[in-house]
Amino acid sequence: MRIRNIQNAQEMIDQNPYVISNPQEFLGQYQKIFNNNNPIHLEIGMGKGDFLINMALQNPNLNFIGLEKYSSIVARALKKLAKYQIPNLKIIVTDALNLKDIFDHEITTIYLNFSDPWPKKRHAKRRLTSLTFLPIYDQIFNKKCCIIQKTDNEGLFESSIVSLSNYGYIIKEISLDLANTSIPNVETEYEKKFKSQGIKIKYLRVEKNINQ
Ligand SMILES: C[S@@+](CC[C@H](N)C(=O)[O-])C[C@H]1O[C@@H](n2cnc3c(N)ncnc32)[C@H](O)[C@@H]1O
Repeated sequence: MRIRNIQNAQEMIDQNPYVISNPQEFLGQYQKIFNNNNPIHLEIGMGKGDFLINMALQNPNLNFIGLEKYSSIVARALKKLAKYQIPNLKIIVTDALNLKDIFDHEITTIYLNFSDPWPKKRHAKRRLTSLTFLPIYDQIFNKKCCIIQKTDNEGLFESSIVSLSNYGYIIKEISLDLANTSIPNVETEYEKKFKSQGIKIKYLRVEKNINQ
């Protein structure tokens, strides 16, 4: 994603009620943030937030947390959020590598929407479905682990299928052309761009039990 500096991005983030600025302090206690025990869904690499905002608006009985490593990108999401009051949506600014210090078996679903594909073999371990991240996800998932991936990228899609299957995940739903299915879908910024270029969206939903 191209990153342009937003002036005062850090200041916007520090003062914003959507942002959890001290997430480690809520390890195991996210019901305190949302004031309820509803399931928590996590989008890793939320970008400018279209998916997260629309999912939270459409699903008031679920809680949504967006993770994004760049402050300047989060600042753009916060600009969009300024016109809403969405109690079931929060944002954390950090790298997914830090997830196990933030959540303790509290997440029910992880969304990986148009994650960076890292096509070079020497960068494969940076993919969000690589063995770098799957043990981290084990630490944050509640009873059942559910990962939903959407991508335009065939290489990332294939590598995710292999990596997730080898790690014990079962494929529950898969499509090479999401638009031609009846799978409910909320579009992301990247998805809209790829669809407008005629690129078919690949979709994967996998699950495994926590102890596998
Ligand atoms: C290609 S963009 C997709 C944005 C959005 N999900 C969409 O579909 O429009 C990938 C996003 O993931 C973020 N990202 C990549 N690796 C990450 C990581 N390890 N932890 C947190 N965010 C990450 C990037 O900064 C970027 O905003």
